[in-house]
Amino acid sequence: MRLNLTEHDARRLLIPGPLALVTSKWRAAENVAPVAWTTPLSAVPPLVGVCVHPSRHTHDMIRFSEEFALNIPSPRLLNHAAYFGSISGREGDKLAISRLPTFKARKVEAPLLEGCVGWIECGLQDAIAIGDHTLFVGRVLAVSAEEEAYQEVWLLDDPDERPLHYLGGFSYAALERRLEARPPAPQSPDFAAQWEQEAREISERSAEERRAQE
Ligand SMILES: Cc1cc2nc3c(=O)[nH]c(=O)nc-3n(C[C@H](O)[C@H](O)[C@H](O)COP(=O)(O)O)c2cc1C
Repeated sequence: MRLNLTEHDARRLLIPGPLALVTSKWRAAENVAPVAWTTPLSAVPPLVGVCVHPSRHTHDMIRFSEEFALNIPSPRLLNHAAYFGSISGREGDKLAISRLPTFKARKVEAPLLEGCVGWIECGLQDAIAIGDHTLFVGRVLAVSAEEEAYQEVWLLDDPDERPLHYLGGFSYAALERRLEARPPAPQSPDFAAQWEQEAREISERSAEERRAQE
């Protein structure tokens, strides 16, 4: 059955790639907050974007320090992600309370988090007001990843060495397996036949689902 949904569901359906735990440091204060709305923006120069609501302490921390780090958590940080998103750094030092170990970044002052599979250090390139959020545009300064987790692509071999994804509410996910696409080559003699076969399978599957609902 196809459900008609609300505009709220557009955001959930489009929930982007891995969750990021954004760390920031301003003077002696450090903070961390999960941000699901992240996106690559440019290859040359390398730019990434994070959408942060102006009410977040992270918003002020990035504005003042003009830098931040994206820590891509493994499933081991599932509870940390939910906790870091449940209170504001204005109410308490989340990193100190959770005792999550950190280590020094290469290019920014913000701490990097253990228990993660990838890290992106950014200088603030731009801050653009978009609707009710601010798109912070980060100039990528340094990138690192666990080699068991990432080699040109996320490997997904070890269940503990995968990026954590956010689905909404208290629901999270980890990708199960890598799929390698093999579309027919345009010069192949079977090119049209193969697309026809794929179209037939999709139509048959949809028709079966409709029949099952009747
Ligand atoms: C998994 C998850 C993803 C979130 N994604 C975003 C986001 O993309 N942008 C945002 O502004 N807030 C997001 N939030 C909410 C903030 O993380 C939350 O308000 C947090 O407490 C802010 O902390 P801070 O005030 O210390 O910055 C998310 C929360 C969770 C739990």
